[in-house]
Amino acid sequence: MNHAEIAGTGSYVPQKIMTNEDLERIVDTSDEWILSRTGIRQRRISEGENTSSLAAKAAIKALEDAKMDADDLDLIIVATVTQDTFTPSVSCLVQVEIGAKNASCFDITAGCSGFIYGINIGTQFINSGQYKNILVIGAEVLSKVTNWEDRNTCVLFGDGAGAVVLKASDNKGIISVYMGASGDENRYLEIPGIEVNNPFSPEVISKPSYIKMNGLEIFKFATKIIRKSFKNVLQNTDYSLDDIKYIIPHQANYRIINHVAQKAKIDINKFYLNLEKYGNTSSASIGIALDEMNKKGLLSKDDKIIMVGFGGGLTWGAILLKWNK
Ligand code: UT7
Repeated sequence: MNHAEIAGTGSYVPQKIMTNEDLERIVDTSDEWILSRTGIRQRRISEGENTSSLAAKAAIKALEDAKMDADDLDLIIVATVTQDTFTPSVSCLVQVEIGAKNASCFDITAGCSGFIYGINIGTQFINSGQYKNILVIGAEVLSKVTNWEDRNTCVLFGDGAGAVVLKASDNKGIISVYMGASGDENRYLEIPGIEVNNPFSPEVISKPSYIKMNGLEIFKFATKIIRKSFKNVLQNTDYSLDDIKYIIPHQANYRIINHVAQKAKIDINKFYLNLEKYGNTSSASIGIALDEMNKKGLLSKDDKIIMVGFGGGLTWGAILLKWNK
């Protein structure tokens, strides 16, 4: 009974669609450049909703899909790099919003790998027998930390939330987990926070909290680490890449995925991609994609799926799962 499986999925994106043509009116860019370099056509942008609001809406849909009440939840984990506030956590705000009064709550920050880290943590709580029903959400309002004058980054990101309900089961749904980090490469992708500024600090020049990224370094890191993640998550299992029906990557850039598919000789059609509609939604992207596949009826019982994330930290990770629904 101490195995973990996915009982339900949910997602939510803001109504406002921002196209590449809309961006042409804000910065010196073009639809042609964005599409050919990234595969992104449009993204959703919050018109005032904060991260907890997106997260709660995705959570309600995941609970419906799992046929579970909010009262049944033992734990809520929110992965995000765009919390509403330093405290309370987004997960505590979600708890109130959905009425999950029996749940413990905490947030995690693992860049765009946050959803993978969150499922890994949730799985450990179930494997240990401490908890039975766990909500894991990846949610971001990246538009609030986007520098809308920086064409190198503002064309890439979008807002959204994806969620899964994990539950204890006799049937092993989460087959294998893998994660890693290399903090020494942290400078390649940053969202600066608040400087230490107290009566004992030297003069502080505060910097705005905008995303800063070295695109080339992240590109090189991603293409290398995705293949390493496949190898590690399949290690010590009965499965190889040939057994995998779908790969759900963090939705950052079509060219990254195409490069990986070619290098690892994997049919590109195995990768589920929806980044042309949503852009890069960091912690939310894999959950949104999984929910979309579930709702489209693409997933059949016993399908083996790999979800793989990579991003700020730098961090990475993968989950090998069997679809039990
Ligand atoms: O969750 C992980 C998040 N990060 C990523 O996924 C990023 C990974 N990296 C990438 O996807 C790519 O590096 C980018 C899409 C960010 C950039 O593509 P690139 O092919 O590496 O372009 P570049 O940075 O080498 O820039 C090429 C040119 C430059 O002009 P010059 O110096 O050659 O004249 C840029 O200034 O393209 C210019 N450029 C743009 N032009 C039009 C950069 N951004 C834009 C833009 N529109 N939005």
